Amino acid sequence: MRSFRIAVFASGRGSNFQALADAQLRGALGGVISILVCDKPQAPVVELAQAANVDVFAFQPKEYATKEDYEREIAVELQQRGVELIVLAGYMRLLSPSFVEFYSGRIINIHPSLLPAFPGKDAIGQALDYGVKMTGVTVHFVDGGMDTGPVIAQKAVEIKEGDTAELLAQRIHAVEQKLYSEVVSWFAQGRISLNGRNVTITE
Ligand code: GRF
Repeated sequence: MRSFRIAVFASGRGSNFQALADAQLRGALGGVISILVCDKPQAPVVELAQAANVDVFAFQPKEYATKEDYEREIAVELQQRGVELIVLAGYMRLLSPSFVEFYSGRIINIHPSLLPAFPGKDAIGQALDYGVKMTGVTVHFVDGGMDTGPVIAQKAVEIKEGDTAELLAQRIHAVEQKLYSEVVSWFAQGRISLNGRNVTITE
């Protein structure tokens, strides 16, 4: 049987990329990471992908006149590999409306808060500043907005007395790294359906 093909888009450290690659090695991802797309050729995630033998498409956005120009190249790379799911893992750019439309229902993102609380940058710092007692992790479909798409899965993380951003981030990242590969495996098994904003995971 043909394997379920995944593209990971990332810009930075790559701990989620690594967790997905590890899950693939264990046979727990249900699919294959066919390509890493990265908008920062010097980012640590590029080396992680090379070490995991994953093809890399790294580009410098400033070398292109428009976002559509580099996204067209990305789309060619994805189509050549028959990618069925785009997994954003710390990809620090908004995708253009036409790209999101083209891949509608096939792009997911992970965000370090319980959305719709604390969208956008530094969600962990936002939660600490606000003083909430509970935050967490959300995996959601990507739509045209910033962290606004239908929620697929959430896990809560408690904020403890005296937490620092660093300590809280460690616990959140540990939850992310486990949850994301689980959600990807649900996709690979065809268990996720979307009806309006409501996502159902079938057994
Ligand atoms: C994660 O916290 C994720 O929730 C957010 O970006 C961060 C990426 O971290 N979208 P890493 O590059 O996977 O380590």
